[in-house]
Amino acid sequence: MSKASAPGKAILFGEHFVVYGVKAILCAINKRVTVTAEKIPQNKILIKSNIGELDAPLKKPISEINSPLKPFYYLANKMIEKHNQKTGIKIFVESEIPLGVGLGSSSACCVAGAASISRLFEETSKEQILELAIEAERTIFENTSGADCTVCTFGGLMEYDKKRGFSQIESDSNFNLVIANSNIEHSTDVVVSNVGQFKEKNEEKFLNLCQKESELVKQVSIMLKNNDLRGLGKCMHDNQKFLEIIGISNEKLREMIKMAEDTSFGAKITGAGGGGCIIALTDESNLEKTILKLREGNYDCFSVKIDFKGLDTF
Ligand code: PMV
Repeated sequence: MSKASAPGKAILFGEHFVVYGVKAILCAINKRVTVTAEKIPQNKILIKSNIGELDAPLKKPISEINSPLKPFYYLANKMIEKHNQKTGIKIFVESEIPLGVGLGSSSACCVAGAASISRLFEETSKEQILELAIEAERTIFENTSGADCTVCTFGGLMEYDKKRGFSQIESDSNFNLVIANSNIEHSTDVVVSNVGQFKEKNEEKFLNLCQKESELVKQVSIMLKNNDLRGLGKCMHDNQKFLEIIGISNEKLREMIKMAEDTSFGAKITGAGGGGCIIALTDESNLEKTILKLREGNYDCFSVKIDFKGLDTF
């Protein structure tokens, strides 16, 4: 039996603009997915999770697997074939990360899945696991940049840009993020394509926003190193203004952000927008107040800290 866990993630700055080459800043959060894998005598792959089950024979073409659990099937089949195993694998998934709201639950599944399944057969390095996890994530998100899997594997804070890839940010920042869920479903693909249309119609305005976002992210990198929470909060507020302009916000998200801004250092949408979650930056002095305020407004919320560990294997 082999067990592994990986953290989810939040985008702190730069979502959407990152698609057009601006740097984004992400962090791993201390909410995890744990995956347990076990060899079984039957000729099948059996996956159990809180979003359902998959019970499929070995070696089915991946295009015939129609399930959100597809990445696990892909990984199990790949390892069985690579190691010429004649029997199957059973996989059990437990998650603390809400699904489909931009908190990296699928990336954490792919990373913890790649680690637990591959380690049934061989010792694998974090780099090898990351490669496998990105491959598995491509079975559900063809165009994934790999940034989410990277931060879920290594943990901590990370800068990411499309050309240069990722680099870890050394920082002792130890803030609390309050994450509140709008419970409005969104599709990242649809929101990204809407932003594409906005850009087509407003080329100059968009270019200008990209430049402003780049400047902002530069300031943020310095503030993170200095643990300047007030400065970071102000940058969140400014970043949110840019996200409003490109049209990914709505009434509910604005209301949540306004509430959170009363008590926190700053708040903004995290991830694709259109629904999903907002984040509010706090420390011990204003964490409880911010949670209370959002709960008074009947919003689902919880607090997280940066996860510095990344992938963990047992
Ligand atoms: O929904 P999330 O958190 O995976 O965020 C998507 C981030 C975007 O910048 C909107 C898209 C992307 O591929 O970077």
